[in-house]
Amino acid sequence: MKKIKKVVFPVAGLGTRFLPATKASPKEMLPIVDKPLIQYAAEEAVNSGIKQLIFVIGRTKNTIIDHFDSAPELESELINKKKTALLKIVQKIVPKNVDCIFVRQNSPAGLGHAIYCTKNIINNDPFAVILADDLIKSQTPCLKQMIDIYNDKQSAVLALEKINKKDADKYGIVEFQSKEKNIYDIKSIIEKPSPKAAKSNLGVVGRYILPANIFDYISKLKPGTSNEIQLTDAISSLLNNHNIYGYEFDGARFDCGSKIGYLKATVEYAIDHKEVSKDFKKYLKNIKI
Ligand code: UTP
Repeated sequence: MKKIKKVVFPVAGLGTRFLPATKASPKEMLPIVDKPLIQYAAEEAVNSGIKQLIFVIGRTKNTIIDHFDSAPELESELINKKKTALLKIVQKIVPKNVDCIFVRQNSPAGLGHAIYCTKNIINNDPFAVILADDLIKSQTPCLKQMIDIYNDKQSAVLALEKINKKDADKYGIVEFQSKEKNIYDIKSIIEKPSPKAAKSNLGVVGRYILPANIFDYISKLKPGTSNEIQLTDAISSLLNNHNIYGYEFDGARFDCGSKIGYLKATVEYAIDHKEVSKDFKKYLKNIKI
């Protein structure tokens, strides 16, 4: 049985919902309190046993490479000033036994296309995908929960969330044939259906475990919804030959690609943040709305 040791972070999207902030900087570098979204995603992966972090980047995304590289000038300055706690924070961003690999997507042609750019790095291994703008707060990392299901079922696993049906046209929506607790045996999947056409209120959110042959299915795709190469369409074809399970994870998801989701995440994470929690709660109690 092949273990999940590789994760893909597609971070080459344009982030138009967050303009002008994302004109020259990546949406994935937006901080929630003091840590960029992409670092939360990397930590989730590492804490789930992943050993290779593969980033699909585009133009304007080079600060992501810098963030995961060492910073000798900053580090020696922190050493000189004896700021050991800060030095540790900077040095532990990537553990020593974890590799970072960066590939370029030459145009934002869609999530399926972004993932296809990693074909030669993934080779024949099953792999995970994390969309860093879907931030998930949970006791056990969401990806770890999904890897446990993968290990049990030996099949693709998609993270699911119950959504408001009127928002169906923002998600990939699944139809299922059977369910055991919070694990669904998926029958079909459609990208962004109208609320009327949606077969359930179960939307796919930004965590996937996929077999390497997903690349064969992506390679056959024509542009779909929004004129993009859609991962959902490849997953739909994969369903013809493979079992795929949907998993309603334990945890709270924040859509940090949207302004409201980003603001909610900031509040929730600030409430729990050691350094600011007390003052922030006090501030919230007295705020006039
Ligand atoms: P989104 O649908 O959130 O698109 O992509 P976006 O471009 O980032 O943001 P908006 O909608 O314009 O505001 C989901 C994920 O897929 C990545 C994005 O970076 C994001 O993490 N993606 C999307 C790519 O890497 N390449 C693409 O061509 C499209």
